[in-house]
Amino acid sequence: MRIKRAMAIVALGLLGLCGGMAWAANVDAAASAECTKCHDEEDLPAWQRSAHAQASDPRTPTCVTCHGASTGHAHKPAGVKEQPRPDRTFKKNSTTPIAERNAACLTCHQKDAKRAMWGGSQHQSADLACSSCHRIHTNNDQVMARATQVDVCVTCHKEQRAQLAKPSHHPLPEGKMTCTDCHNVHGSAGPKLVKRDSTNATCYACHAEKRGPFVNGHEPVQEDCAICHNPHGSTVEAMLKTRAPMLCQQCHTPHVAGGVGAVGGQPGVFQRAPGQLAPAVTGTSSGKNVVNLWQGRSCLNCHTQVHGSNNPSATNPTPRLFFR
Ligand code: HEC
Ligand code: HEC
Ligand code: HEC
Ligand code: HEC
Ligand code: HEC
Ligand code: HEC
Ligand code: HEC
Ligand code: HEC
Ligand code: HEC
Ligand code: HEC
Repeated sequence: MRIKRAMAIVALGLLGLCGGMAWAANVDAAASAECTKCHDEEDLPAWQRSAHAQASDPRTPTCVTCHGASTGHAHKPAGVKEQPRPDRTFKKNSTTPIAERNAACLTCHQKDAKRAMWGGSQHQSADLACSSCHRIHTNNDQVMARATQVDVCVTCHKEQRAQLAKPSHHPLPEGKMTCTDCHNVHGSAGPKLVKRDSTNATCYACHAEKRGPFVNGHEPVQEDCAICHNPHGSTVEAMLKTRAPMLCQQCHTPHVAGGVGAVGGQPGVFQRAPGQLAPAVTGTSSGKNVVNLWQGRSCLNCHTQVHGSNNPSATNPTPRLFFR
């Protein structure tokens, strides 16, 4: 580019035709000619292969569609010392207001249903530019490729990066899923930019069996999967936010069971402890004892169908209690 520019000063017209135009064969040559006199493949090596440089597509933009006419930049006015910048720039140090940069993209891309909710979305409100995520002058836009998307997102979303590294997680680090399997980052009618209109609808897309309908549904499951699960990852198995019994006891009073010091294996479980009328576990106890409440799968030792039960029996065992 530096060499071209020096030569351009000497033989501007000729060079524009021979160098720039040949390179710009894929872009709308006439409209871009002003620019490609100076800007060539050294500047923008992968431009030709990018989605925006396909002149055969009548919707394809020219340099000035995005950057503005930039007349002063292309033709430095006499007496001006420094070459004025283009009308619209997009790099980190850009002084073009973000709304104006995004408007240049949205003239073509707002029609699309996927971006209809961009205005007012969390990313728009946080003043992100389209180019905070997208790279334009390349055919390798990392945020678009499933293999590299997560890396782009977690440069800003460090908390989610940490959660994905926990033992129980959706298989994003394994490359089998990406953030946009669950999120529409361009805006959503649902909470937290989820892809569907609600968190549950988003989960049902892959976990259809949790939708039911169940003969006996469990209210929090029908309300919001994220009450119990952290979809990005957790140290507790099944991506649970916390373990049973604490998980369940956020809402339910524990069964009255056991007695003083009655923690599994401790005095009080199988043998009476001082101050205790009877040990927690006896030949005739209900099974709702400290051992069953605290050991193994805790509440899930008995209430195994926590997402809902289809037990057809009216009484045995009590169907609404999620035993089977
Ligand atoms: C006379 C040569 C010349 C012409 C013609 C020209 N430019 Fe430039 N352009 C430059 C130079 C020099 C730079 C600064 C490069 C640098 O700093 O690395 C530049 C930088 C740019 C930048 C980067 C600015 C930034 O800060 O992000 C953009 C975008 C740009 N030009 C677009 C255009 C467009 C669009 C046209 C056509 C309307 C055009 N240029 C025509 C010489 C030219
Ligand atoms: C679809 C919109 C769009 C079109 C069309 C477009 N640009 Fe850009 N341009 C951008 C964005 C966005 C950036 C910021 C860097 C990036 O995201 O790749 C940029 C960056 C640049 C830069 C700075 C590159 C750098 O890394 O320093 C130059 C120079 C440039 N454009 C020139 C041009 C020229 C010349 C054309 C026509 C051949 C053109 N642009 C067409 C959107 C566009
Ligand atoms: C003049 C219309 C126009 C403008 C302005 C425009 N685009 Fe595009 N864009 C297109 C066309 C045409 C395509 C390729 C065909 C398609 O829609 O699949 C495309 C494709 C894309 C793609 C998909 C790329 C891929 O690899 O599949 C992204 C991302 C994109 N544009 C972002 C942007 C951003 C960001 C801007 C603003 C900097 C912008 N566009 C400005 C017309 C435009
Ligand atoms: C937070 C990052 C992020 C921001 C900000 C962002 N995008 Fe995207 N964009 C993506 C991702 C990821 C994809 C691919 C997955 C998808 O389609 O949801 C994508 C896909 C696209 C596509 C091509 C596929 C499609 O959806 O049709 C276009 C066009 C596009 N974005 C335009 C824009 C425009 C215009 C803006 C600014 C108004 C913008 N994007 C802002 C991340 C982003
Ligand atoms: C340049 C930094 C940046 C990048 C890159 C980025 N985001 Fe964001 N994101 C933000 C900011 C800032 C917010 C709004 C403040 C917040 O809630 O963290 C946000 C908000 C969100 C929200 C909504 C949070 C809420 O509380 O409602 C989700 C979901 C999200 N981003 C997902 C993504 C995904 C997925 C990607 C990658 C495709 C991505 N982001 C890329 C900066 C970024
Ligand atoms: C399996 C679906 C799924 C995947 C994959 C996913 N998310 Fe989420 N994300 C959600 C749901 C659901 C919520 C809302 C959780 C809630 O309401 O507590 C959320 C919330 C968020 C939030 C807001 C967090 C908060 O505490 O408010 C951010 C930021 C976010 N996700 C970013 C990402 C990023 C970045 C990726 C990819 C690395 C990603 N998500 C992958 C489903 C997902
Ligand atoms: C795009 C498909 C997809 C979506 C959407 C999705 N999941 Fe998953 N989910 C998976 C896959 C794949 C696995 C891993 C299955 C495996 O490893 O066998 C999984 C596993 C799980 C697991 C079990 C993890 C374990 O360790 O046993 C839970 C819990 C889960 N998902 C909850 C959710 C919730 C809650 C949502 C909605 C926020 C959701 N999923 C959305 C695909 C999805
Ligand atoms: C009341 C808390 C709670 C809610 C709400 C909840 N889950 Fe679960 N989920 C659990 C528990 C506890 C486990 C572990 C079950 C086990 O180990 O048998 C689990 C396990 C899972 C699993 C992995 C094992 C399996 O059964 O497939 C998936 C997938 C899952 N949940 C999806 C969902 C989805 C989707 C939603 C929302 C529709 C949801 N969960 C709502 C508590 C909950
Ligand atoms: C966010 C609060 C919440 C959490 C967490 C929760 N539940 Fe529930 N649960 C409810 C509500 C609300 C009902 C319906 C109450 C009713 O019908 O009396 C219910 C109903 C039940 C019932 C049937 C009770 C009856 O009388 O019909 C059982 C059994 C149950 N939950 C077990 C569990 C277990 C086991 C866990 C932990 C894995 C759990 N719950 C976690 C809120 C919760
Ligand atoms: C040993 C099996 C067993 C374990 C373990 C167990 N339950 Fe139960 N649960 C039952 C039985 C049996 C009933 C039927 C009503 C009764 O006998 O009190 C019941 C009833 C319930 C009910 C509905 C009636 C009521 O008492 O409100 C809820 C809610 C409940 N259990 C929650 C839990 C929670 C939360 C845990 C974990 C702290 C748990 N259960 C652990 C067997 C068990």
